Amino acid sequence: MFRALASVLLCCFFLEASYWVHFSYGDLTTCSGIVPMTERGDKISITDFGGVGDGQTPNTIAFRKAIYRIQHLRRRGGTLLFVPSGVYLTDSFNLTSHMTLYLARGAVIKATQDTSNWPLIAPLPSYGRGRERPGGRYMSFIHGDGLEDVVITGENGTIDGQGDIWWNMWRQRTLQFTRPSLVEFVNSRGIVISNVIFRNSPFWNIHPVYCSDVVIRYVTILAPPDSPNTDGIDPDSSSNVCIEDSFISTGDDLVAVKSGWDEYGIAYGHPSSYITVRRVTGSTPFAGVAVGSETSGGVENVLAENINLYNSGVGVHIKTNIGRGGVIKNITVSELFMENVRTGIKVAGDTGDHPDNNFNPNALPYVKDLTLKNIWGVNVQRAGWMHGIENATFTGICLSNITLQGTTGPRPSWNCNAIRGAAIEVSPQPCAELTSIEQSGSCASHS
Ligand SMILES: *[C@@H]1O[C@H](CO)[C@@H](O)[C@H](O)[C@H]1NC(C)=O
Ligand SMILES: *[C@@H]1O[C@H](CO)[C@@H](O)[C@H](O)[C@H]1NC(C)=O
Ligand SMILES: *[C@@H]1O[C@H](CO)[C@@H](O)[C@H](O)[C@H]1NC(C)=O
Ligand SMILES: *[C@@H]1O[C@H](CO)[C@@H](O)[C@H](O)[C@H]1NC(C)=O
Ligand SMILES: *[C@@H]1O[C@H](CO)[C@@H](O)[C@H](O)[C@H]1NC(C)=O
Repeated sequence: MFRALASVLLCCFFLEASYWVHFSYGDLTTCSGIVPMTERGDKISITDFGGVGDGQTPNTIAFRKAIYRIQHLRRRGGTLLFVPSGVYLTDSFNLTSHMTLYLARGAVIKATQDTSNWPLIAPLPSYGRGRERPGGRYMSFIHGDGLEDVVITGENGTIDGQGDIWWNMWRQRTLQFTRPSLVEFVNSRGIVISNVIFRNSPFWNIHPVYCSDVVIRYVTILAPPDSPNTDGIDPDSSSNVCIEDSFISTGDDLVAVKSGWDEYGIAYGHPSSYITVRRVTGSTPFAGVAVGSETSGGVENVLAENINLYNSGVGVHIKTNIGRGGVIKNITVSELFMENVRTGIKVAGDTGDHPDNNFNPNALPYVKDLTLKNIWGVNVQRAGWMHGIENATFTGICLSNITLQGTTGPRPSWNCNAIRGAAIEVSPQPCAELTSIEQSGSCASHS
């Protein structure tokens, strides 16, 4: 009952928010200009290739043929592949450069639940193995490798991963390899994903890895709160990523910026940088805005602003571990509102597992310059949990204009060690580690 009511409230808030976005402000700040939206002169429909949207007929050959045609005819300005209203069941498939996958209103591209023929691909070099299981990993449902100029858009059609079969394998510990993401781009640039609904991903939803110039906006990402590791968007060893105007409600972090895992990520050495997350609303048992825990290539220049979170585990979570190495710096979160959240702000140097026993325990992460400002929370159980690493104190942490109200009973508390920083206008009063005089300069210059 309560849950039903909460989802009605969420839905209506969201509708109201998008109304506001569209009609009240013509000049909202946006980063989406980094990838211009391309008009395609050449248009084809999946039905021209035998596609049938009855929810039963396999469309794998239709998608592969259509995309083969785009790849080999190479029409000037690229080609739009139209998917009309209907439910198109298919195996996973690869996209190609200079194409738009267009889902009309009422179009659903649905992943097969026959997992036995799901293709396996090599592990990412920055992870050394599959994230969940050693060895290779299942290819994402919709995959792009080494591409440029790719758009996935339309009229809010749906990409449905039918992930429950995979979640059950995870729960029953019968997974042989790492579960597939819903959409993954590897080594690609000039990617736009907009006006699409993503549902029930087997694993992470949208995973741009080794990519640059990526825009993800006006997307809705939904998976049940108890679905394992269904992260919303994970920019990974990628730069110039713009995530805006989206609603995400999943079973794991809504947005988590990553850059590889322990010794493999350190060797690969590819950071995530210039990541913007703006006007995102949602709910998760884990974190709203996260960095980590796989940060071995480094994460810097992240800006998250105008974030609204409800019924969530953690508001902001910066997480790393010994063995990770990597530099995490210049992370700013501002204008964050949260309601019904267990922990407002969490910074942790002991989070996440290791790929194997060859990680170097002396490879400590270096965490510096985290700015958290203009944050308001109600019904927050614990204000802050901020634990750096002994001998690798996290510094330059600036908290300013933060009010976190509890429920009834004691005021939400702060718990800190191995961190240094400053706090201005923070309520309740933060821990002593955040009131350093010599650190207050960095706080002022960021505000
Ligand atoms: C799809 O891409 C993956 C990764 O690049 C590749 O291993 C696989 O062979 C491709 N599959 C098809 C059917 O082209
Ligand atoms: C699709 O959904 C977005 C919200 O994510 C909304 O702003 C947009 O107007 C919708 N577009 C259509 C064609 O319904
Ligand atoms: C910090 O990151 C922000 C947001 O990406 C960027 O605009 C700014 O230039 C960065 N500052 C420094 C000192 O690199
Ligand atoms: C403090 O933060 C709130 C949002 O939580 C914002 O509305 C207000 O303008 C901020 N105040 C200042 C002085 O920036
Ligand atoms: C921290 O440094 C001290 C002095 O170098 C050393 O004795 C101690 O073992 C170190 N602690 C850890 C957890 O590495």
